[in-house]
Order: sequence, then C-alpha cells, then structure tokens
Amino acid sequence: MRVLVTGGAGYIGCLTVEELLKAGHEPVVFDTLNWGGEGLEEHMDKIKLIEGDVRSSKDLIYALEGVDSVVHLAGIVGEPACKNNYKAHFTINIESTRTLLDCMTDPNIGIVKDFIFLSSCSVYGNVKGLYNEVTEMTPTSPLSLYADAKLQAENIINEYAAKFPHFHPTILRLTTVFGWSPRPRLDLVTNLFAYRAWKEGKISIFGDGMQYRSLIHVHDVAKAVVHTLEAPRFLRDRKVYHLGEEANNRTVRDIAMIVKQYMPETDVEFLEGEPTDKRDYKINCQRIKNILGWKAQYTVEDGIKQMLEKLEENDWDWESFKYRNNQYAYV
Ligand SMILES: NC(=O)c1ccc[n+]([C@@H]2O[C@H](COP(=O)([O-])OP(=O)(O)OC[C@H]3O[C@@H](n4cnc5c(N)ncnc54)[C@H](O)[C@@H]3O)[C@@H](O)[C@H]2O)c1
Repeated sequence: MRVLVTGGAGYIGCLTVEELLKAGHEPVVFDTLNWGGEGLEEHMDKIKLIEGDVRSSKDLIYALEGVDSVVHLAGIVGEPACKNNYKAHFTINIESTRTLLDCMTDPNIGIVKDFIFLSSCSVYGNVKGLYNEVTEMTPTSPLSLYADAKLQAENIINEYAAKFPHFHPTILRLTTVFGWSPRPRLDLVTNLFAYRAWKEGKISIFGDGMQYRSLIHVHDVAKAVVHTLEAPRFLRDRKVYHLGEEANNRTVRDIAMIVKQYMPETDVEFLEGEPTDKRDYKINCQRIKNILGWKAQYTVEDGIKQMLEKLEENDWDWESFKYRNNQYAYV
C-alpha cells in the first residue's frame, strides 16, 4: 500500500513511517516539518517526503496522487499549544479535516477510500464518580480546546462517512502517549517526569496526584496504526477503537513513583492547588484486542527506563523548543 502520512515527521509519525516500511508499505510523508525532518533521517532514501500544509487543498491534491490510504496525524498537539495558537489550532485541528476529506472523496481528484484518524481519549474529560471505566460507548465530555477539536474532527469524519459509501474511516482514540521516538517529546507527562528527575532531581505534582491517566507507548501506537490499516475492512470501517492497555492505567502519583524506582534520589513533591489538567479516567481497551487482535507490548516501566537511557546520550540539546509542542509559534 502507498500510505500518505500527514504529520509523518512528528513524534508518532516517524515511528509509524518506520513500521510501514517494515511491513513492506510505501509511506509518503506530508508535513510542514515544524520540528525539522530529523526523526526521519534513517529512512529518507526509502520514503517520499512532501513539505505541505493540510490546510491547502493544492498541496493535498498532488500529495494524494496514487495513494491507497491516509493516516492523518498532522495537528497542533496538546492543550497549551492549542491555547497559545488558537487561530492555527482552529484551522489545522478542525477545518483542515474537511479540506482533506473533500480531496479524498472527490472522484475527479482520485478517490482514497481508507482513512485512519488519531483522536484522543481526552474527549471523555473527567469521569470520576460517573463511570468506573470508559468504553467506546461512554458519553464524551471534552474539557479542553484540544479535546474538543478532536471530537469536532471525529464528527466531520462521521459526516463524510454517512455521505460517501466508498469512504471507510477508522478512529483510534489514543490514551496518553509516552516513550522514545526519533522526534522526542518531553511535554508528555511520563516523559516530562523522567526528564525532570534526570535534570533537576525533582518532580512536582499539583494536588494529590491520584487522578488516573491511561498510557500507551509511542512504538505501540505506530504498530497499532499499521495493524489497523492491514485489518480486513469490515473490522475497521466506521469503527472507533481505544488504543491503550489496561495495565497502563496509572495515577499521576504512580508515574512519578515509577520514575523514582529508577532514580531513587528524586524528590517527589505535592504542591497545594488544583491540577491544571483535570482529566481523570481509566480506559477500557478490550474492543481493539477482541476485534482486531491487537495488544500493546510496552509497559510504563519500559518507557521510563528507555527515556532515562536516551536522556543520558550527549548528542541532544534537551533545552530546545523542538521537544516541547507548547514552545512553537504555529501560524
Ligand atoms: N502524543 C499523544 O499523546 C497523542 C494522544 C492522542 C492523539 N494524538 C494525535 O496524534 C497525532 C500526532 O501527534 P504527535 O504526538 O506525533 O505530535 P507532533 O507534534 O510530534 O506531530 C505533529 C506533526 O504534524 C505536523 N503538522 C502540524 N501542522 C501541520 C500542517 N498544517 N500541515 C501538515 N503537517 C502539520 C508537525 O510538523 C508535526 O510533524 C496528532 O493528531 C495528535 O492529536 C497524540
């Protein structure tokens, strides 16, 4: 399959491209290269790289030529980045979904039938006291601009699926990602805690840290995307799947304590005040296991150990904005 990966130079994108190559597919990366293309360096001779913007139908029309399926990862990721760049967030995270789907479903451009969208379990918000665990049927209640945009994009996708019988989308709602990718991110809770422990010897948590996060390793995400693409269409068409692992449903406090296991000198402090991120949920991930036969391989411990090993490598400028999405000025 020739697979267009929007956002293919990003944290999840680089590894998705790697997994597509391993499985014998032809990835075409479509990205504005906000973080540069370093994460793809190893694969440059095996991939087609198009510098383009998902808001531009002109860029997309040419990129979609000869493509069999699309994995849509491009976006402004995380609440602080969306808040700081509201206009870009609105056009990229919401509006461009229509631009892309218009191009994919227009027979004069060349129909692309198969589509995978990476949404987020943050669409559920805070379910504490309402639901013990969250399934794909649980009502959504986004608490942030980012989560709300994910839900709006899902709704647009469902609208196109209802209108075009030949359009076959799958929505993967991801739990929070952690672990190492060739385009590293230090702004995700697990990676951030590992970084803080390594750099400052201290992890600070607002509140008691008892709110649950559901987590998934970035490599597992990449593998799951390829697994889903390769699944028989009737198992993925118009379906929503959670991407995660119940064993990786951990409290924020647990995550800090796992880091401390590897760096025992770390001081974990609990600060007065409300956590800024109020998400609290335990995600049920049985559907993807039972229907698509996919299962995560990495534990939170694996990811933290791996991050700490990478942090020790000298060839990274860890202070760079490149590893923190909220420090980039999107236009
Ligand atoms: N990382 C997570 O915890 C997580 C969780 C749930 C869902 N997701 C979703 O997965 C996808 C990828 O996230 P990530 O963590 O790899 O983020 P990332 O920031 O590393 O990657 C996003 C990529 O999109 C590109 N991009 C941004 N605007 C673009 C535009 N207008 N046109 C083309 N490319 C553009 C960037 O250059 C970047 O390479 C996003 O859609 C995100 O919402 C991520």
